[in-house]
Amino acid sequence: MGLRIRDLELANVAVQAPMEGVTDVAFRRLIRQVGGCGMTWTEFVPAKALAGQHDRALAAAEIDPDERPVAIQIYGREPALLADGARCAQDLGASVVDVNFGCPSKKVCAHSGGSALLREPALARRIVAAVRAAVSVPFTVKMRSGWDQSSKNAPDIAWMCQEEGVDAVTVHWRTRADLYGGVRDPAVIAAVVDRLSIPVIANGDVVDAAGALALLAETGAAGVMIGRGAVRNPWVFREIEAALAGLPAPVVDLAERERVLLGYFERLRRGFHTDHGALGRIKKLARYFPGETLRDAIWHSADVDDAMARTRSWFADAREVACSA
Ligand SMILES: Cc1cc2nc3c(=O)[nH]c(=O)nc-3n(C[C@H](O)[C@H](O)[C@H](O)COP(=O)(O)O)c2cc1C
Repeated sequence: MGLRIRDLELANVAVQAPMEGVTDVAFRRLIRQVGGCGMTWTEFVPAKALAGQHDRALAAAEIDPDERPVAIQIYGREPALLADGARCAQDLGASVVDVNFGCPSKKVCAHSGGSALLREPALARRIVAAVRAAVSVPFTVKMRSGWDQSSKNAPDIAWMCQEEGVDAVTVHWRTRADLYGGVRDPAVIAAVVDRLSIPVIANGDVVDAAGALALLAETGAAGVMIGRGAVRNPWVFREIEAALAGLPAPVVDLAERERVLLGYFERLRRGFHTDHGALGRIKKLARYFPGETLRDAIWHSADVDDAMARTRSWFADAREVACSA
């Protein structure tokens, strides 16, 4: 079992999902440091701003020179601008250019970007054709399963993508109307897999190796993408790798988890212009951390030093509990 996107052979079938405000270069360094992830993904970058070389877009598309393979994700609604953005992503060194047909946000959808494109298949086709003509690196599309329960058209959109030369698609089983709720539906991903000959990456609510193996088995997908679960547990990729090889899960003790988390906080502090900015990011991420008490401790922090002290103290308590268990 493997995941190959055209000529790109990924070391693991489990890949990291793009997440706005989360998967910046610092987070992706953490993922790479921990290891086992088949491919990293930038957050979505507006194609127009990227093509216009705007600072914020360039920062969102920043990749490390040794970060391979990495996908830069772009979004927008105008085919020519998406083609320009895609060219720019390729020039920045993306191993893969990914286009977003999945974002449910009102702002993005109002301008017919993201998942709104699922309702405009003719425009979606023109976008895909324009991006395909613009780049030579592998090109992928990430989508939701449809706009709502009455229009789960991911199989048709994915088929169109394949016809236009897309090299792989990612399908999140939720519809746009589901936002982050809805009823789990691997069947819609399986329907995409059935129709396509290009690789399909399955996405939605995977938080551990058992969940990854189940989604792969239920859908027949070639790969699995993990978002929030990777913030909660960055070791999830190594765990999946081990499970697929029939090996026991790697043992990562609390001291190692603490060391990696604090190192990441430190890098965020250096990456942000202000302590306030870094603390805001840490608090945002804490939403996905395991353990209500750790989340609470971080949310009540006054600054980054305080967040780090509270995190140390939480781990000390957790070690004590583990020792006495
Ligand atoms: C905070 C946040 C930001 C996200 N930003 C993006 C994004 O920039 N591009 C994208 O395609 N999907 C984005 N997503 C969706 C994720 O990539 C993924 O499809 C979704 O979270 C389901 O996967 P999960 O259950 O493994 O988290 C975002 C999700 C979250 C929670």
